Amino acid sequence: MKTAVRKQMTIDPLVMDLLNNQIAMEMKASASYLAMASWCDQRELLNSKEFFYKQAEEEREHAMKIFTFINDNGGAAISPNVQNVNNEFESLRGIYETSLEMEISVTQSIFKIFKSARKEDDFVTEVFLQWFITEQAEEEDTFRSIIDIFDLMEGMPLKMIDERLPKE
Ligand SMILES: [Fe+2]
Ligand SMILES: [Fe+2]
Repeated sequence: MKTAVRKQMTIDPLVMDLLNNQIAMEMKASASYLAMASWCDQRELLNSKEFFYKQAEEEREHAMKIFTFINDNGGAAISPNVQNVNNEFESLRGIYETSLEMEISVTQSIFKIFKSARKEDDFVTEVFLQWFITEQAEEEDTFRSIIDIFDLMEGMPLKMIDERLPKE
């Protein structure tokens, strides 16, 4: 019987489970942003449309970063089931507010994994997650600034507000 030479797993098994959950969360975010992009696309909200298509891609990149990190460190990355994606929205402002809430819960989830990596002395994951912590701070800031624009432009036509919003 041949014995396969296995790479030693450098990440903690408990932390790996949390990272696999995070892959699912990033892919769910990607699918949600795609739904938002479609809503904006149908209404010719050009900046918002571009913004959300871009967000959808970025979230997939985040998922892939974690996916390859797990496998590169001898673990087993799991391709997630993405379910219950909401495709119905009330308003453009509502879409950005929902996005901010989603980003906040992603940040909280990243913090949870970071804490667990610390507790388990999983230094490799701790260092890996630093990029995500910085990224989340930026993402939250982007959405907060956009909601500020809605406050400033209250009562203006939707397309005019959209023209003031960032494309990325
Ligand atoms: Fe993300
Ligand atoms: Fe994000």
